[in-house]
Amino acid sequence: MELWHIRGGKRLEGACFVQGSKNASLPILAASVICPASTQLLNVPQLRDVDAALRILRHLGCRAEQRDGEVSIDSRSLSSCNIPHSLMEEMRSSVIFMGALVARCGEARLSLPGGCQLGRRPIDLHLSALRQMGAEIREDGGEIFCSAPELKGAEIVLPFPSVGATENIMLAACAAKGETVIHGAAREPEIAALQDYLRAMGAEVRGAGTDTVVIGALRPEKQIACRIIPDRIVASTIACAAACTGGNVELRGIDPRQFSTVLRFLKQAGCDIISTDRSVRLRSEGRLKAVGEISTAPYPGFPTDAQPVLMAALLKARGLTRITENIFENRYRQVPELCRLGADIVTHGRIAEIWGVDSLHGTALTATDLRGGAAMIVAGLSAQGETLICDEGHISRGYERFDARLRALGADISLA
Ligand code: EPZ
Repeated sequence: MELWHIRGGKRLEGACFVQGSKNASLPILAASVICPASTQLLNVPQLRDVDAALRILRHLGCRAEQRDGEVSIDSRSLSSCNIPHSLMEEMRSSVIFMGALVARCGEARLSLPGGCQLGRRPIDLHLSALRQMGAEIREDGGEIFCSAPELKGAEIVLPFPSVGATENIMLAACAAKGETVIHGAAREPEIAALQDYLRAMGAEVRGAGTDTVVIGALRPEKQIACRIIPDRIVASTIACAAACTGGNVELRGIDPRQFSTVLRFLKQAGCDIISTDRSVRLRSEGRLKAVGEISTAPYPGFPTDAQPVLMAALLKARGLTRITENIFENRYRQVPELCRLGADIVTHGRIAEIWGVDSLHGTALTATDLRGGAAMIVAGLSAQGETLICDEGHISRGYERFDARLRALGADISLA
């Protein structure tokens, strides 16, 4: 159990570099097994989820290690295509290894990723796409047995732009005979990052960032090098913290276009935002204005992962903010905890209505999930008094040395 200790009321001031992206790192770590090669990755964040992915790689027989932001993988020694439940359950997105293992070994055995805190999180779109490519998939008691001695290229239409399904198809398609076209593909920046890695691996991939991704032949390289893009959700979180504490913060090494919807709401709330192509400076007097309607949507819409942290930033914003969460069924678990700080939030189904209050008062909270826990930190920073967050490791799944990073900006926060 980790304990976050926050004394609120401090303005955030200064500059910080944004960590590498968790959601770009994880699919690339899985993709490293597609062909026998050595991979060097730079700017990989030190996170619990990255550790979990490295453990899976080692279990599969690969050499995989991280030193600071550098990860080196040698997948030539891969000797298994089976991921046990104990490793699968550590990280929801471990299902992303399925496409990579089917591509490399022609088969994969893994357990269904647990229904996470955000809702059911099915993988039907992953499985139906792989079946269209010729895989035989059997589900038995929470285990998935996937066999595809010969994957065939296919025209796949995704009814919903699932990030994970798009990534899994891209990985499997690298080994398919013939071209694969994904219609209705996810457009997140992490998809383009994966395309860059697969190209470095020798795969013909194009269209990432649009709703049509095409994967052709693979001419495998032996050495692959890639730098992980910055984390747009961590950038959004720090921007939200600066906005509600009253601050003057410069985020460096980040592409503002990748979280422009978040910045637009913070500007509407009264922040002064100046962007260059690699940095964002945000100034705020602290007391924000409510922003009316916020609806989460697939990229380039407002990201569901930023919903909890923007909610936290708006708890004292004058007026009513109404959020509609369209991506996950159960992504308001942070609400009861935020209300314990004195927030005025009412939820009904996918709608959350936030009435700005004059002040928040620190208390003891329990982190419910990764972004919900981050929202509690944001709210604690703007509350009066002390906030303690009991956290069974949710926050460190996605935020690298977050206490030190916020302390460097003037926050009174420690992690025990
Ligand atoms: C990725 O999850 C991210 N995780 C999530 O970030 C992010 O919230 C999500 O994309 C949406 O942007 C990683 O990249 C590791 P989806 P993923 O498949 O791939 C439904 C964080 O905080 N769905 O786009 O699981 C699903 O139930 C995490 O960093 C199906 O119905 O998201 C959900 O409602 C949280 N069938 C919606 O689609 C499927 O086969 C979005 O899921 C797949 C998904």
